Amino acid sequence: MIIINRKDFPILNNDIIYFDNGATTLKPKCVVEAMNDYYYNYGANIHRGDYKISLEASEAYESVRNKVAKFINAKNPNEIVFTSGATDSLNKIVFGFMMNYLNENDEVLLTKSEHASNILPWFELAKIKKIKINYIPLDEYHELTIESLKNTITRNTKVISVAAVTNVVGDVRNIKEISKIAHSNNIILVIDGSQSVPHMKTDVIKDDIDFLVFSGHKMLGPTGVGVMYGKMKYLEKMSPINFGGGMNQYFEVNGEVEYKSIPTRFEAGTPPIAEVIGLGSAIDYLEKIGMDKICKYEQDLKKYLISKLENNKKVILYNKSSKSGILAFNLEGIFSQDTAIYLDYYNICVRAGNHCAKILKDEINIKNTCRLSLYFYNTKEEIDKFVTAIEKSDDLYKVIL
Ligand code: ALA
Repeated sequence: MIIINRKDFPILNNDIIYFDNGATTLKPKCVVEAMNDYYYNYGANIHRGDYKISLEASEAYESVRNKVAKFINAKNPNEIVFTSGATDSLNKIVFGFMMNYLNENDEVLLTKSEHASNILPWFELAKIKKIKINYIPLDEYHELTIESLKNTITRNTKVISVAAVTNVVGDVRNIKEISKIAHSNNIILVIDGSQSVPHMKTDVIKDDIDFLVFSGHKMLGPTGVGVMYGKMKYLEKMSPINFGGGMNQYFEVNGEVEYKSIPTRFEAGTPPIAEVIGLGSAIDYLEKIGMDKICKYEQDLKKYLISKLENNKKVILYNKSSKSGILAFNLEGIFSQDTAIYLDYYNICVRAGNHCAKILKDEINIKNTCRLSLYFYNTKEEIDKFVTAIEKSDDLYKVIL
């Protein structure tokens, strides 16, 4: 049973079936309206003006910080830093904190199913600091097990940086357990929440997460805004990596400079004001439904999808047991992009390719897959239409050529 009014999402009037929510989600009217309201009625810069609309904008922006803190259960709103997205957040952590924290031969643990944003900054840091990157082996379902994590930790392991839910395999990782093991070994835990925060309840205190990153646009919000959460004790040791207006207290001709307090010192330049306000509205929308309800709805939808596909011999499923709403698949003998183009003929949007997880091929033995990623506005009827299109796919090349 659908848990929202689909009319809240104007784009759905276009008769599309949108199954690419891992890439970005659709936006409800209220998010666009909140941003329009800012632009139309109080679109001034923040933290710089002594007039009413600037103060109003500053207040709206800062109130979202409180909202985000509450949403992920952070102790202190100052632990919330607005960034341009999860990629920016991870770069800030790696080059603003890890650059000082890590030394030669220290080890960082990743997995081969991480997104590029959680691998490439580490590669770059490894070149500069000569740290080592090791991959925690995944099991036969391409999932991260606690046993495997334990076996990969050495006395040199200083950081574990993994997604809570990966973007192709969609395995839901036991963050609480991972964090217990990390902390009992004095290891810092960085969590990429891009595919988890939009879909399930996140609690940085319960799960004892040191750093968490996520993007606004994957959770109904606008593009161009994201969040870096860090425990205050770590943010205090972090250096800004962007310098400029807004983040400094004063500077002198001789180079003397003092930066503002946390989190302002990490938000140089004019921040994405409208986008932060839009993110606030997205959070209101999600909270009104309830994250547990969203999570359960998506899990049920995924089960329904699998039940409709698992006996179809034409379809190869790569992660049917994973608990998220993400399904990686291929049609037997068909290049993934051809399948995506074929599905588009029926107005069904899926993503095809390597999905920026370019070393996952070493795990699943195939470079390219189609990825169907669900959100709470998807329905069983949409899945039925998708399954019918798949069943008719013998004529795929007639349709697309
Ligand atoms: N990270 C996004 C995805 O998985 C773009 O599609």
